[in-house]
Amino acid sequence: MKIDILTLFPNIFEGAFQESIIKRAQEENNVEINIINFRDYSKDPHNKVDDTPYGGGQGMVLMCQPIFDCIKSIKTKDSIVIMLTPDGIPYKQKMAYELSSKKHLILLCGHYEGFDDRIRSICDMEISIGDYVLTGGEIPAMVLVDSIVRLIPGVIKEESHLDDSFGNNYLLDYPTYTKPRVYEGLEVPEILISGDHKKIEEYRKEASLKKTQERRPDLLDK
Ligand SMILES: C[S@@+](CC[C@H](N)C(=O)[O-])C[C@H]1O[C@@H](n2cnc3c(N)ncnc32)[C@H](O)[C@@H]1O
Repeated sequence: MKIDILTLFPNIFEGAFQESIIKRAQEENNVEINIINFRDYSKDPHNKVDDTPYGGGQGMVLMCQPIFDCIKSIKTKDSIVIMLTPDGIPYKQKMAYELSSKKHLILLCGHYEGFDDRIRSICDMEISIGDYVLTGGEIPAMVLVDSIVRLIPGVIKEESHLDDSFGNNYLLDYPTYTKPRVYEGLEVPEILISGDHKKIEEYRKEASLKKTQERRPDLLDK
C-alpha cells in the first residue's frame, strides 16, 4: 500500500512513523508513506495557500488551487482521496479494516478555518476522528495511518488484531495479565493458570461480553 499525506506542516510527522510496528512495516515494504507539502503546488508568487472567507468571518480558508493541483498530480485510478474534517463520517475500526485493503490512500490535512468547500468535490471520503476540533488534520492522519497499517496483511499476526476491541465480533477485548502471578496482593484469575485452553477461551469470551455490556452496551446492537 502507498499512503500520501498532504499537509502544510510536514515536520509534525517527524518521528511519528519512525518507531515500532509502523517503522518495520515500511522497512519490510508493506507500506510506503510519503509526506507532501501542498504549498509546493501553489501558483501564487508568494506560495500562498489560504485567504480570507467570502462573506466575512474569522480565520483563513485553504484555497482550491494548490490542493486541486497536488491531488491531480498524484492521483491514479487506484487512489482514494480522504479529507480529514470534523464534519466527516465518524472513524471506526470497520473503516480501518476496509481501508487496509486499498492500494493508494491520499490523506488531506486541513488547517486554520478549514477548506474551501469546493475541495470536497475532489475527495472520495470525508473522515472525522471524533467530536472535537483539533488545530489541524495531521494528528487525525496519524490516527488513520497507525490504525490502518497494523491491519495490512503481514504487518502483525492476524490473530493479534481479530480479538482486539471492535475487531471481528465488535466486542471489547478481554482482560490480559502477565507475570508475576500476585502483585501487591492483586491476583491473576486462577483459570488462566489452569492450562485448560477450552475453559480459558470460554472465560475470555464471557469476560469480553461482560466488559462490553458494562462499558459499551451500544456495541452489542451490532
Ligand atoms: C481548526 S480545524 C477547522 C474546523 C472547522 N472550522 C469546523 O468547525 O469544522 C482545522 C483542520 O483540522 C482538521 N481537524 C480538526 N478536527 C478534526 C477531527 N475531529 N477529525 C478530523 N480532522 C480534524 C481538519 O483537517 C480541519 O480542516
